[in-house]
Formats: sequence, C-alpha cells, structure tokens
Amino acid sequence: MTAILIDGKQVAAALRAEVASRVAALTFTPGLAVVLVGDNPASAVYVRSKDRAAAAAGIAARTIRLPADATEAALLATVAGLNADPAVDGILVQLPLPPQIRPQAVIEAIDPAKDVDGFHPVNVGHLHDGRPTLVPCTPLGVMRLLAHAGVSIRGTRALVLGRSAIVGKPMAALLINADATVTVAHSRTRDLAAECRRAEVLVVAAGRAEMVRGDWVSNDSVVIDVGINRLPDGRLVGDCATAECAAHAAAITPVPGGVGPMTIACLLDNTVTAALGRRA
Ligand code: GUN
Repeated sequence: MTAILIDGKQVAAALRAEVASRVAALTFTPGLAVVLVGDNPASAVYVRSKDRAAAAAGIAARTIRLPADATEAALLATVAGLNADPAVDGILVQLPLPPQIRPQAVIEAIDPAKDVDGFHPVNVGHLHDGRPTLVPCTPLGVMRLLAHAGVSIRGTRALVLGRSAIVGKPMAALLINADATVTVAHSRTRDLAAECRRAEVLVVAAGRAEMVRGDWVSNDSVVIDVGINRLPDGRLVGDCATAECAAHAAAITPVPGGVGPMTIACLLDNTVTAALGRRA
C-alpha cells in the first residue's frame, strides 16, 4: 500500500485562518513577544517567520534581540519587563540559549499565564495532570494533524520515539490524556525497530536523519515525523525514510510540509488562548 500524505501546510493554513478570525472578533489586539539572544541563523529564520505569521493573524508581535554575550541577569530583566507589560499576552524565549545562560532559570521566570511555549513547570504539571492549559506547540500541532487525519486515538498503541522536554515528553502526555497506550522509546531503548513495529501511531522526534526505516513501520499505522534534518547534499529530510515508511503506513507526514508548519500556527493559537485567559 502507499500511505496518504498528511498535508501540514494545508492544516496549518486553516488553523492560522481560524486564529485570525478569533482575533478579529476581539476588542483588543493580542501581543506576542519573542526574545532572541545571539545570532543563531536557524533561530533568526524561525523568529522572522513567527513575526510574519503573527502579523498576518492580527497579533501584535515584537522581537527583542539581545547580544550573544548577554548575561543571564540581563535576560531575566527582559523577561520581568515583559511579564509586567499588560500589552504582552505571550512570551517566547527562543532556544537554544548561549552557554552562559541557564535555560531552566529563564523558563521558570516567565509568567506561566504568558508561557506560550508551555515549558514552565506549572504548565508542564497541568499537562501531566490531565488538565492542560498552555501546551507545547509542536506536540499540540501533532495532535491537530492526527485529528485532521481522522485518527481515533483512544485505545491505540502509540509509540513516541524521543524524550525531549520540547516534544517527546509532552507528546506522550497528550497521547495518554487522549487514552492511548503509550510507550516512550529513545536512544537507549533495546531493539527500537521491534518497539516501533508494535505501534499503531508512531510519533518520531529522534533528531536523526532517516533513522526509522520502512521495515520498522507496521502495516496500516499512522506515522508522524517531527524531525527536520539537512543532509550534506542540502536536502531536508525527516527522522523517517519517508518513501520506505509510506510503503507500509496508512498515513504519514512529509518533511518538509508536515509537522513543521503546525508549530507556528499553534503558537498563534496559544497566544490567543493566553490572551483570553488573562483578559477575559
Ligand atoms: N527552539 C526550537 N523549537 C523551539 C520551541 O518550540 N520554542 C522555543 N522557545 N525555542 C525553540
């Protein structure tokens, strides 16, 4: 069989349009502040596209740039200023941060009500308690793609490959909350291929180009590829060998054009959620 390709670009565009119409119905303009420390080129590209997407949805976005040698104290002072600013509903500090700054200290300084990344321990706790508030954007985008693809998650065997705080762990929590039977596998898992083969829903966020091969994927499963890797020849590929996996799966996300576009759309959605939570 050949898998259906789940079109993240289309689903993200629909979500951005829905966010824009929710914003248009508000009596105020939601504000999003993105903080970028240093000049990591990938981060700069990401921050520019957040700015553009926010503006198109009617959200007032501003980017605060700090130099690569900024101190942790300077970044914490910036965050404190944004916490106190009533025009700011959402705060996102772009990761990774330079080595002199402890990411956890910064994440914990953000007002949980403005934490549109969903990384603050209070929001992490709510998610793992089964009463999610602000949820990390990438796993939230995956849940929306699964819903769009008509996957009914309750009772399914799901496997999350990867255990990061940004994707793997919150992904597992969302799937548990949706009544899946969830396994989290990672680089130290024995016989990864066999674990993957048992999954009906396979979410891959391993950070290794084309790691998941066709014979790791069971027939009729749904494969969500969160990875994005640039090969030496310049091609962008996911963490799955897409063509091989598509020969077995019922549905799969392409790279690019799968999960990637959902992340920013979910960030806009979280900004409106935060704004309504704070101002309602
Ligand atoms: N860097 C890569 N992904 C993310 C994300 O989702 N949020 C933040 N703040 N930084 C990132």
